Amino acid sequence: MSETFFSQDRSFRHLAIIMDGNGRWAERRGLTRSEGHKAGVESIRQIVRAACEWRIPWLTLYAFSSENWNRPRKEIELLMALPEAYFKEELDYCIKNHIRIRVVGRQDRLPFHVRKILDNVVCQTRHNEGLQLVFALSYGGRGEIVDAAKRLMLDAEAGVIEREALDEKTFTSYLDDPEMPDVDLLIRTGGESRVSNFLLWQSAYAELYLTALMWPDFEREDLAQALRSFTTRERRFGKTSAQAPTRPLGKDLC
Ligand code: FPP
Repeated sequence: MSETFFSQDRSFRHLAIIMDGNGRWAERRGLTRSEGHKAGVESIRQIVRAACEWRIPWLTLYAFSSENWNRPRKEIELLMALPEAYFKEELDYCIKNHIRIRVVGRQDRLPFHVRKILDNVVCQTRHNEGLQLVFALSYGGRGEIVDAAKRLMLDAEAGVIEREALDEKTFTSYLDDPEMPDVDLLIRTGGESRVSNFLLWQSAYAELYLTALMWPDFEREDLAQALRSFTTRERRFGKTSAQAPTRPLGKDLC
């Protein structure tokens, strides 16, 4: 994998991953689901390092959906302990490698101890201009769009924005992270073929890459394979093949 390709190819800005399959990975090994989630954290560690080395500008990880609040209390408690464990090990790496941590989702639903950790890592890395690493926690795409609509209505009521001025760009500025670019490649592990309420607005033109690998089995080389697959896609954005601004990049990469 070219180490610099993604910094040069301005058409690739945002990789998003639905990290599915921790539970099944564990159950197949006679382990608890919690152990599956812990193994999933190790995959996050590896994939973040690869994304950083390969100069991917933005990486968003679906770590806990708004629907995951319906899981058994014990599993939620374990999942809520993972950010602390992860950042205890990885914050130094993030700082040294100029990674900026960002968070999207309804953070007001998260336990206080999780919010405190997130506030700390977001604050400590806020000036970093390397990999923009986003954790989607307590996140749902529909909820994000509804929250954006509410913020927009407040501004409309206050006369800050006129109905005629509203367009897609302006609406984007009301989302959880207004700076987040559109998703270029959306990877889902775990063998399912759905988007599960993830980045619905930002993924309008995302290329999809589905793999049967469970998240704890997803390694650097699997990410490289997904990125290679991306380079073969013709992204037409509704245009004809002849008009398409980007053609498959194929052999230019890797
Ligand atoms: C889906 O697998 C995975 C999750 C619901 C949680 C993913 C979270 C992590 C990997 C760790 C998060 C860590 C940080 C640092 C925030 P599943 O449980 O739905 O698996 P299954 O489909 O096999 O049951």
